[in-house]
Amino acid sequence: MRLEGPLPEFGIGDAVLTELEDVVIPNGTRMSESGFWGWITVGPSTVPVAASLAAMVASPQRYTVTAFNHLEELSLDWLAELCGLASVMKGVYSSGGSVANLVALGAARQWALEQHDIDASADGVRGAPAAIYCSREAHHTVLRAAGVLGLGRRSVRVIDTDDDQRMDVERLEAALRRDHADGVIPIAVVATAGTTNTGAIDHLRRCGELAQHYGAWYHVDGAYGLPGIVDSRVSSLYDGLELADSVIVDPHKWLGAPVGIAATFVRDRSILHRAFTQEPADYLEGSFGDSDDLRVSLDSMGVPYADFGVELSAPARGVVVWSLLRELGREGVKKRIEHDNDLARHAAKLAREHEHLDLLAEPTLSICCFRYVDDRVGDLNDLNAHVLRRLVQETQFLPSGTVVNGHFGLRPCFINFRSEIEHVEGLIEAVVRIGNELVAQAAK
Ligand SMILES: Cc1ncc(COP(=O)(O)O)c(C=O)c1O
Repeated sequence: MRLEGPLPEFGIGDAVLTELEDVVIPNGTRMSESGFWGWITVGPSTVPVAASLAAMVASPQRYTVTAFNHLEELSLDWLAELCGLASVMKGVYSSGGSVANLVALGAARQWALEQHDIDASADGVRGAPAAIYCSREAHHTVLRAAGVLGLGRRSVRVIDTDDDQRMDVERLEAALRRDHADGVIPIAVVATAGTTNTGAIDHLRRCGELAQHYGAWYHVDGAYGLPGIVDSRVSSLYDGLELADSVIVDPHKWLGAPVGIAATFVRDRSILHRAFTQEPADYLEGSFGDSDDLRVSLDSMGVPYADFGVELSAPARGVVVWSLLRELGREGVKKRIEHDNDLARHAAKLAREHEHLDLLAEPTLSICCFRYVDDRVGDLNDLNAHVLRRLVQETQFLPSGTVVNGHFGLRPCFINFRSEIEHVEGLIEAVVRIGNELVAQAAK
């Protein structure tokens, strides 16, 4: 293995670039290939990669008054507008949906406990009985956030879904009612706009109304699915989004930014300031002058994003989102999203029509879950797990797997702007061929 070895005593200088080119890069992942549809990840395109590199060199931190600090704010406003959020919604970037959810739920915790005269940021939760509500299809980072925020994973009420994988709102209401009777403080209702498994969109209006009725913060996790609102065929599914107190979206998912960019939006960033403010540090605030006397970039910190989340040092991510939106425009994004939703619908049609394929969930957005089936096979979950392993080892088609209503299946998530209809057809052919081979082998 050419990458093994002891800590070098002496450096090799620029020759390391050759090692990068010859050894490291060729052994990277296959996420930039046209058949990659695993999880919700994609290899980025040229423009945002160039913007990311530019930020690393020209503005290695997002603070101080620079073009980069300015684009941080401008791009957040553009992103909010693209995703149908009201102009009052102001954001902060972080490294991904996990942190974006943590920041949003940190705001929820702060707000909800302030109603009970508890300053959670300063004093902790003081043992207050509290609960967060989300569906069983919500991303598991909601539970982790509850743990990190001192509420505890067990404070999350995991609500069952209906047949379409959407949070069952009657069960949600029953849980809120029960907790209300027991004196439990409702911290937040978390709805998902585009679940990770199937792309389902919860009943955003009903969830929001219930949150309001029971005095809970309303958070919408749109890490993956929020940009789907630009496709007019599904935009009505986002009805009620305007009720949200916080919303997240990950440009590094459907918008194809390099990994490491998510945004949390709230109505009023002062709640983020109360939840996450750093105590002042002489070396930091003391380094800047009076903000009225701006002459050079180092005269001011610029927008104090470090007080709105959990990161101090952080790259300038806004320039990346700005570059993408400048490159594509709203129309270009819309075209990509519609194309991806078309690919999922085409896969679903082919799965529906084939005798050896079973569609596990109708696509809402750009995810299509299906499986190989054959009457002679007892354990279809095991068979499909083998189909998936052979697909990724032998073909150019790289979906992930998931379980829908107890059935293991293949889960291509089409957010890869390099994919076309022939790749979808290639996937379907490969699944049928491998499934047939496995069944024939087992029958021998
Ligand atoms: C709905 C949803 N929320 C949150 C996350 C976590 O995002 P990240 O992997 O960027 O931390 C994901 C990841 O797929 C997701 O699908």
